[in-house]
Amino acid sequence: MLDALDPAMQSGGPPADPARRAWFEAVYALASGDPARVPWANLAPHPLTQAWVAAHAKESPGCKVLDVGCGLGDNAECFAAAGACVTAFDFIGEAVEWAKQRFPATQVTYVQGDLFALPEEWRHNFDLVHECYTLQALSALLIPQALAAMKSALAPGGHLLLVARARDETEEIKGPPWPLPPSLFEEAMRQGLVALSIKDIPAGECVASRHWRALFRRAEDA
Ligand SMILES: C[S@@+](CC[C@H](N)C(=O)[O-])C[C@H]1O[C@@H](n2cnc3c(N)ncnc32)[C@H](O)[C@@H]1O
Repeated sequence: MLDALDPAMQSGGPPADPARRAWFEAVYALASGDPARVPWANLAPHPLTQAWVAAHAKESPGCKVLDVGCGLGDNAECFAAAGACVTAFDFIGEAVEWAKQRFPATQVTYVQGDLFALPEEWRHNFDLVHECYTLQALSALLIPQALAAMKSALAPGGHLLLVARARDETEEIKGPPWPLPPSLFEEAMRQGLVALSIKDIPAGECVASRHWRALFRRAEDA
């Protein structure tokens, strides 16, 4: 059912709707409040995000975090529980409302927003931008623009944390989602992000398939 609605599965392919907005809208609408019908909704923070937050607990209090494509909010809540000041956004209003309902006492500021049209006041505003599984859901055409948008939200010296499924450059893939190749990191570096750590995590090590967890810093002059 969801596949039949996906522009990536139809004639014209991803260029017909590279951000797949109508598809995301349909997923949340058809779920009718049942998280079991949202393919990525585990109702828990991603284990790679959670482990990173736990390892950086001392730096979290007061840290201004932006969670991109927040879905039902579990990752945003994980940063907030560690003391960060979190803004989380998703371009589907239903996802944002759902996250707010799930966490009525939340400290997170949830807003509807589009990565490709970020509010001016977010520019150079965040110490940490986190994204989990949103880049891999976009047509490859949009990846450079998506990285640029995330970088634009970083304060000088701010950090970008990416969690995504991984693949080799030449590996054949079916998607969506489209596991990301190592050239993603070259693109990030071309855009003025400095790679601090790129972890290639094999299947079985707390994730069912191979993943990246990568941390970048915005260069002072970028
Ligand atoms: C695969 S889901 C992952 C959700 C969440 N990050 C998680 O790990 O559970 C991708 C999310 O990104 C949102 N999204 C996709 N493109 C977006 C865009 N251009 N701007 C904001 N949100 C977007 C979708 O609506 C969806 O909720």
